[in-house]
Order: sequence, then C-alpha cells, then structure tokens
Amino acid sequence: MTLPVPTMQAPPVAVVGLGQLGGSLAAALVAAGRTVTGWDTDPAARDAAAARGVSIGRALSGVVVLATPIPALGTALEGLDVAADATVTDLGSVKVPVLADLGARFGSRFVGGHPMCGTERSGHAATDPELFRGARWAVCLEPGTELPRWLRVAEVALAVGASVVPVTAAEHDAAVAAVSHVPHLLAAALAAAAAEAGPLALGLAAGSFASGTRVIGSDPGFVTAMVEGNAAPTTAALDAVRAQLGRPWPELVEAGHAVAARPQGRRPVRVPLDRAALLALGRAGGAVERRLAAFVEGSMPA
Ligand SMILES: NC(=O)c1ccc[n+]([C@@H]2O[C@H](COP(=O)([O-])OP(=O)(O)OC[C@H]3O[C@@H](n4cnc5c(N)ncnc54)[C@H](O)[C@@H]3O)[C@@H](O)[C@H]2O)c1
Repeated sequence: MTLPVPTMQAPPVAVVGLGQLGGSLAAALVAAGRTVTGWDTDPAARDAAAARGVSIGRALSGVVVLATPIPALGTALEGLDVAADATVTDLGSVKVPVLADLGARFGSRFVGGHPMCGTERSGHAATDPELFRGARWAVCLEPGTELPRWLRVAEVALAVGASVVPVTAAEHDAAVAAVSHVPHLLAAALAAAAAEAGPLALGLAAGSFASGTRVIGSDPGFVTAMVEGNAAPTTAALDAVRAQLGRPWPELVEAGHAVAARPQGRRPVRVPLDRAALLALGRAGGAVERRLAAFVEGSMPA
C-alpha cells in the first residue's frame, strides 16, 4: 500500500531532557534555523540550553522529543503542556518497552527513535551540536505508525545531519543488542578481567585494550538501564558471542577478519513512501538521506 504524501512544512521541535543527547539535538536544530523549545528538571541544563538559543518552556508542540534517561521516559511529560496534535518521539536506546508504554498512551502519535551516536560523557556539559552529523538514526515504523508523523520525526533527524534507518521496535532491539548492548557488557567484562589480572596487565595495556573497553567510562546507570531494558535480545546476542568463542581460534579469527574485509561500497537508492519498502531498505543495511515529495533518497550496501 502506498501512503499519502504529507506536507513539507518543518514543524517546531520541543526537547525534554537537555543532557548530552537532548542538549545536542536542541543546539543542532537551533543552528539549523529551527524553532526549538526545551525543558529539563535540572535548572543548570535549562540555562545551558537557553544560552544556545533554545526557548525554555513547558508548552510543547510540533515534534516533541523525549531525551531523558530511559527510566524517566514514561513520566517526563507529567506537568508539561503537550499540544493535542503533537507527534511524540524519543531517543531511548531500547524501543520495545518504550513503545509499549508511550505507544499505549499516545497511540499513533508516538513514533519511537534512537540515534546511534553519543559518547561516554553525559549531562548538558557534553552537548555537541555536531553529534548527529553522519550518524544513523533508527526511526520506528510499526504497523500502526502514521507515515506523515514518521516523516516528521525522520525530517528532524535529517535536519541535524543524520541518516534515517526505518525499522520496527523489535528488529531494532535485536540489532542493537548485537552491536551496542553486548559490546558494552563485553567491554565491562574485559576491563574487570584485566583488573583482576593485576597491575602488570593494566600497565601493559595498549591500543586493543583501549579500543575494546572505550565505553566503560559511560554512566553505569545509563548502561544498566539499557541492557536491562533490552534483556531478552541482549541475552540472545550474548549467547551468540559465546557460541563464536567456542569455535577453533583460527576459524574464529578468520571469521572476524572477513567482516572487516567486506566491501564497503554503497549505492544510491530511491524508495517510495511505503512502509514495506522503507522497512526493506532498513533490513538491507540501507538508510534514508533525503526526503522528496513522493519518495525518499538514500543508500544501501552495493
Ligand atoms: N548516551 C548515549 O550514548 C546515548 C546514545 C543514544 C541514545 N541515548 C538515549 O538518550 C537518552 C538521554 O541520554 P543522555 O546520554 O543524553 O543522558 P544525560 O544524562 O546526558 O541527559 C539526560 C537529561 O535528562 C534530564 N532529565 C532527567 N529526568 C528528567 C525529567 N523527568 N524531565 C526532564 N528532564 C529530565 C537530566 O537532567 C539530564 O539533563 C536516553 O534515553 C538514552 O538511552 C543515549
């Protein structure tokens, strides 16, 4: 089924939670000339965003972006005035539980999202308006998602330099378990095991140890909320890693090396504004880079 083409107007954006991700998004949108309202329970985060041109207030309209820690996503709009026709999205690192909560409350007005960027820093002092440039941003297309609202959220991601991966919440959670949540746990395990090995081991640690453990500096509360919020897919992805570790070492090393040796080329694609076609693009490793009237342009592995 091909869905109707929505209007091209850029709606205002409201960001709730002005820390690393939300503060960066609000600042990037202001820099792109967009009207942005922001709110945070921390007055220091509000002041920092205001200094970057964000209008601080509790009246939220257009695209309302929830950028609080995962445990606060369900309550972040309490006491705030959300316009009846606003599209609500979030930046949370897990999508199925957030969809169950906010989807139940906002119905088809809710479109889940997750930008695949961020550093091990947190809080408003980690704001970087360039954070999203070149990043992938998953935007969820469920069977009940209204395509015009999906496009409004996708357009926010495109406006700050990200490319958009259409995906369902369940497929997102399985995929990020493998490429994000398990790497966080493996980094913690590597670091803890090296610390147990003693000061000599840590004293000799160099590039491979630093690369494999970079994310251990992340806020433990953030990582715990992420992996516990995505427990079943993360457990399955960890089992897959354990199975790999059971292979003969030469075979395992070859298999890993083969991933690095894969061709990196991409080819441009045009996809109609159709749920099945957009999801097929995401599943193939593709992403949307530009929105035109009746289709989107992007790229996928060659
Ligand atoms: N850090 C990453 O690498 C990363 C990457 C992608 C997505 N995310 C997701 O983005 C979201 C934000 O993460 P972050 O790293 O920016 O966190 P952060 O700790 O840097 O910022 C969170 C902000 O939310 C504010 N806040 C907390 N409760 C609030 C509430 N009830 N109402 C309003 N504001 C509230 C805090 O004061 C803080 O300023 C999380 O849901 C996380 O899963 C994080």
